[in-house]
Amino acid sequence: MKPFKATAVSPANIAFIKYWGRKKGTLDEEVIPANSSISMNIDNCYTKTTVEFSPEYEEDEVWIKFFGKSYEKVSGSPLNRVLGQVNHFRELNNCALKVKIMSENSFPSDAGIAASASGFSALTLALVGAFEMKLSLKELSILTRLAGSGSACRSVIDGFAEWRKGHDSGSCYAVQLAPPEWWNLADLVTVVKNEKKEFSSLHGHALAHSSPFFNRRQHLLKKRIPLVRKAIKKRDFLALGELIEEEATEMHLIAMSSHPPIFYWNKGTLEVIHFLKEIRKDNLFVFFTIDAGPNVHIICQEKDMDKIDLEVKKLKNVLFTIKNKPCAGARLIEKHLF
Ligand code: PMV
Repeated sequence: MKPFKATAVSPANIAFIKYWGRKKGTLDEEVIPANSSISMNIDNCYTKTTVEFSPEYEEDEVWIKFFGKSYEKVSGSPLNRVLGQVNHFRELNNCALKVKIMSENSFPSDAGIAASASGFSALTLALVGAFEMKLSLKELSILTRLAGSGSACRSVIDGFAEWRKGHDSGSCYAVQLAPPEWWNLADLVTVVKNEKKEFSSLHGHALAHSSPFFNRRQHLLKKRIPLVRKAIKKRDFLALGELIEEEATEMHLIAMSSHPPIFYWNKGTLEVIHFLKEIRKDNLFVFFTIDAGPNVHIICQEKDMDKIDLEVKKLKNVLFTIKNKPCAGARLIEKHLF
């Protein structure tokens, strides 16, 4: 029997409207968010994954190469999360073969750059490729969402995406708002900490409802979501910038006021935020957003990125930066990792 093998590459995405908390009354494994979210794929933060099912393998093996490190064999709950998705595909395709998976990240994981989004979208598309499944983009987005990291379902869409919360599993998936070339925005990821974070986003989603501000945020999002959609449609950078800063601060307010509280920011995060406020005085328009970690995503216009990069690197707490532009979503590639 010929082995089933495929390789996919998928970008991380940065959320302009954040997924933070699941819909009340739904099961964790359904991954139905309390609100819709909006994001942009980022080209220099990606995961490459090869999967191979073969009668030669006696056990399932998963290997990950984190940024700047060598390959490590995955075990414990990260392994169970990956095998959860693999088993789903085995059932769909009536397959009992063991699998070998190798995966490489181009950027530091677990520090607020959505490594799980690029990781689970690359894994899902590689599985689709290995089984030669013919899926619509909607079906692919739903299967990716169910992998565990909901935000991964936005990474399969090209460019700017909205993950619609829908009303059930079949209506909860991501759609395109604009292709990558629509807007020459940039995301300068400013890394102020390069270690595993203490609280995963899964933990954050579970705690979000315990914040006294959770319902208020859901109410405010009803206005903010259409405004972000409109800012993208009109390429209105100042409008987008103000909205995403408000949104990021509010998501972190929910995290900081949940029981127990989660503080993702560190002194480097604040140093970058204050620096941006200063350079805005010189009419250089730059804005921040922050996912579940301390690193700051500086959202600017592509023409300004190099200038901002030179300045931000002079800050005491900045370790390094990663320059990103909007890009296509997950895709299959010919070159395998093994
Ligand atoms: O999809 P998850 O479970 O990895 O959570 C993503 C959470 C944020 O990155 C903070 C927000 C988002 O929408 O990407």
